[in-house]
Amino acid sequence: MTKDKKRVLFIGAGRMAQAIIEGLSNKPEFAILVSNNGNEERLEFVKNHYGVETTVNWLNNLVNMDIIFLAMPPDAHDTILNELAKQINGQLVLTVAAGIGPAYLESKLPNSTPVASIMPNTAAKLGESITLYAPGQYVNQQHVQWIESLISGIGQFERVTEKQIQELTAVTGSAPAFIYKLAGALEQMALETGITQQQARKLVSQMIAGSAEMLKTNIDTNELINQVATPGGSTAAGLELLDDHQFSTTIQQAINACRQKAAAIK
Ligand SMILES: NC(=O)c1ccc[n+]([C@@H]2O[C@H](COP(=O)([O-])OP(=O)(O)OC[C@H]3O[C@@H](n4cnc5c(N)ncnc54)[C@H](OP(=O)(O)O)[C@@H]3O)[C@@H](O)[C@H]2O)c1
Repeated sequence: MTKDKKRVLFIGAGRMAQAIIEGLSNKPEFAILVSNNGNEERLEFVKNHYGVETTVNWLNNLVNMDIIFLAMPPDAHDTILNELAKQINGQLVLTVAAGIGPAYLESKLPNSTPVASIMPNTAAKLGESITLYAPGQYVNQQHVQWIESLISGIGQFERVTEKQIQELTAVTGSAPAFIYKLAGALEQMALETGITQQQARKLVSQMIAGSAEMLKTNIDTNELINQVATPGGSTAAGLELLDDHQFSTTIQQAINACRQKAAAIK
């Protein structure tokens, strides 16, 4: 591997690792080495498809690495962190696993190891994630630059605290499923008018994409609603029904249900 590049070891070669590796394809400042849990076929695919190096024995390569990126299930972390702790020497350790916070990583690794938790969402594979990251206490400005450069390939990002990443994961990670549920209900109504599935998907997806663009103008959501709904008009009738059914409260309760479940799983 080239010496002046930052060397990144991915442990885990699944969907999330591949989305991030894909996002790094136009970032020549990183040299990538990928390992996994022994699925050699997947490792071969990753090597050929993304043009990165792979290894079945990441421990042998650890000493040469600058950044260790854990992209495997939460329950695989303890074993890997125990192995890492024996040989790590100041490298930056990142994880995308839900519920593995920087304090936990720090508790498992030698004192003063720089760590961070990263929480992308499924839109990462299209480069459209909103990704949260929470650095640990030993992360410096150089590490922050590496983290932001690594995750900028999968979309936009925000730096938050450990407590905030726990609470916001429901909003950025889970709520896309709420949007798809809304989309599914609207698609169904569109299909009932006699248009094709393809047409219904086009209508609904572009309506949501356009609404997202309007949100990005930072106009207050109530004002955006007012721009659509004339008092006493047809949209207002629909909004009234949503209010009668406590739509906003229901969404907030759903976010809280995600948070409670996430806390219980840990
Ligand atoms: N997918 C998402 O949209 C998303 C969003 C946010 C966070 N995440 C988090 O990202 C992590 C990975 O998710 P994913 O969707 O990429 O999962 P995935 O597609 O199932 O891939 C999991 C990867 O982890 C590897 N692995 C499992 N146990 C391992 C071990 N003991 N040592 C080394 N590698 C091991 C697997 O190895 P093999 O290839 O050998 O099977 C596989 O490459 C999870 O913690 C998940 O919570 C995912």
